Amino acid sequence: MVADPAPLEDAGVADRCKVIGGDMLQRVPSGADAYIVKRVLMDWGDEQAAKILRNCAEAMPEDGKVLVVEMVLPPGNEPTPGKPFDVLMLLMHPGARIRTEAELGHLFGAAGLRLNRVIATPSPNNILEGVRA
Ligand SMILES: C[S@@+](CC[C@H](N)C(=O)[O-])C[C@H]1O[C@@H](n2cnc3c(N)ncnc32)[C@H](O)[C@@H]1O
Repeated sequence: MVADPAPLEDAGVADRCKVIGGDMLQRVPSGADAYIVKRVLMDWGDEQAAKILRNCAEAMPEDGKVLVVEMVLPPGNEPTPGKPFDVLMLLMHPGARIRTEAELGHLFGAAGLRLNRVIATPSPNNILEGVRA
């Protein structure tokens, strides 16, 4: 899916990018050092989310990485930015949800990956680094 790559030109980085359309549930382009999956898994139920990660794992080289950028629900019952989004996801797509670190780790495992580390950012998103299991 590539609706409009014009923002890349506007940002002056089009000459450093290759735009490749496709269905990530079928396959993703092979051979990249890293696959960034940003605010995507939350749109899908576990089976499809694991499939997206598995397609990245199968496409990447032995030392490749999958970088999932997404909100992570912390344990406990305190208010967090992820919780209203979790309810929104529930209303939008069957199975869609904001996940805990354990749930995301389980998805990585189902895709043949290991959750290597979780990097906090100043935004509500975390970066979850997956490597080959
Ligand atoms: C929540 S948006 C995230 C977009 C972007 N990564 C970001 O962080 O702003 C989810 C994206 O997944 C894309 N998408 C949905 N189904 C797809 C599919 N089967 N294959 C490839 N992309 C898909 C949508 O077009 C949309 O751009």
